[in-house]
Amino acid sequence: MEKIKDALAKAKIENVGNKINTRPAQQETVTQQTVKGFPNTENELGQITYLNTPIIKLDNAHLEKNRIVAHTKSDLNSYSFDSLRTQILQKMEENNWRTIAVVSPTPQSGKTLISINLAISIAHQPQKTAILVDLDLRRPKVATYLGIHTEKSMNDYLQDKAPLKDIMINPGIDRLVIVPTMKPVSKSAEILSSKKITGLITELRARYESRIVIFDCPPVLNSDDAMVLLPQVDCILLVIANGMSTQSEIEETLHHLPKANLLGVVLNKAEVESKAYYY
Ligand SMILES: Nc1ncnc2c1ncn2[C@@H]1O[C@H](COP(=O)(O)OP(=O)(O)OP(=O)(O)O)[C@@H](O)[C@H]1O
Ligand SMILES: [Mg+2]
Repeated sequence: MEKIKDALAKAKIENVGNKINTRPAQQETVTQQTVKGFPNTENELGQITYLNTPIIKLDNAHLEKNRIVAHTKSDLNSYSFDSLRTQILQKMEENNWRTIAVVSPTPQSGKTLISINLAISIAHQPQKTAILVDLDLRRPKVATYLGIHTEKSMNDYLQDKAPLKDIMINPGIDRLVIVPTMKPVSKSAEILSSKKITGLITELRARYESRIVIFDCPPVLNSDDAMVLLPQVDCILLVIANGMSTQSEIEETLHHLPKANLLGVVLNKAEVESKAYYY
């Protein structure tokens, strides 16, 4: 943990301190939901009304196994994500930011897990809609973690086989929309800089102020993918996992990131005395 602190201090990053350590949720509150179809209308608050009803079920045991805890209102871990959400939303509102890229220096730092839990937590706010988009085109995992399988996904959108509205799904949680990527995509850096993705990001951002769009991204240092994406989003949430990146990897990442757009740093897999998260 010291090397993380040193790297952040060197880069003069002050907005630090969200520490996360997950354990499987103890209680189940997401029950099987009847999903009322992909979102196709929005009211003035940007809240999505679902029509035409394909059914998607979230399996509680699967969510727990994958450390998705934010839906479990009474769980301490869920409270921690709510706290992270509150800090994030405050800073986003101050800056009129609506799109977030979740990145890390190196793989396996917890980006996908944090993106999902954060999106669920944001969706719990009655005045917000959260859209979670899987833009880790090399290693898409959002659908796997949520346990959802869809016929149409980002893969079809990228091949002009489906419009955006047909690849958005609701996982049975109000005000939460998922745009899954079901299969790895080749030439991902080229695709992420293409008009197709630029247009998607612009379209998702443009419509309503109450929308928060979270992009689960690839690691910064393993390919060009994240670097291509970062200039296209409003702000960046950096996830650094204890033991997963060296100090020089953290420093190199911080060097690449535009500091003015850095929303914050989450210290993941932090050692904590109790099993709860703390901030
Ligand atoms: N705080 C945590 N405590 C324990 N395990 C965690 C924590 N955060 C993530 N993990 C586990 O670490 C692994 C990697 O998490 P995740 O897939 O979210 O990382 P990632 O940064 O998205 O990885 P990739 O770079 O491969 O996309 C998963 O098995 C996840 O359950
Ligand atoms: Mg991931």
